[in-house]
Amino acid sequence: MSTAMLSLPLDEVGCEVRSWRNEDAASLARHANNRQIWLNLRDSFPHPYQCEDAERFLAGVVGQMPELNFCIAGRDEAIGGIGLRPWSDVERFSAEIGYWLGEAHWGRGIATAAIRAVTRHGLDTLGLHRIFALPYARNAPSLRALEKAGYVREGRLRKSAFKDGRFEDQFMYAFIR
Ligand SMILES: CC(C)(COP(=O)(O)OP(=O)(O)OC[C@H]1O[C@@H](n2cnc3c(N)ncnc32)[C@H](O)[C@@H]1OP(=O)(O)O)[C@@H](O)C(=O)NCCC(=O)NCCS
Repeated sequence: MSTAMLSLPLDEVGCEVRSWRNEDAASLARHANNRQIWLNLRDSFPHPYQCEDAERFLAGVVGQMPELNFCIAGRDEAIGGIGLRPWSDVERFSAEIGYWLGEAHWGRGIATAAIRAVTRHGLDTLGLHRIFALPYARNAPSLRALEKAGYVREGRLRKSAFKDGRFEDQFMYAFIR
């Protein structure tokens, strides 16, 4: 089976969205091992995040077809991740987008650029019609990044998540073809 090799340049921030590689394990684990990141993601994202977690993740996504999980890469290492989770049945033209970035790289527009690029890829190449995100309502940087990328807030899902011992509201954001 041929291995997917995607590269979406993020020229405006000097980064790239690309296929994951097995060699990304060490930098992936180093950037992902952060409670501030875990607090804003689902519990399926491990914390602490160890090298074995990175290797297990990479074993599932390197060579994945169709390719739905991507590395956000800086000049010489993985600095974050972004992925699409397709739905099925009558929602089969929809996918959820999820993303995180190593804390050392926050505030430079990298997530916004990556969301824009993967959204375009999902609509133009994967044939999706709707891409949505479900950030916690308190996650101001993520809400802002989604809005800068052209996503529209459609509603508040009250107490829809249970994270770190408390119920949380989530916002539904979506980008439509
Ligand atoms: C959310 C996350 C991906 C954003 O990455 P990033 O590269 O720093 O995002 P960007 O720089 O593209 O945009 C962030 C925006 O939020 C703004 N922002 C940051 N902190 C903020 C705050 N407390 N209140 C309001 N806006 C804030 C930034 O100023 C920036 O907006 P601007 O360009 O208008 O100044 C990153 O913080 C992260 O990985 N967080 C942990 C995981 C996570 O939350 N993932 C998303 C799950 S839905």
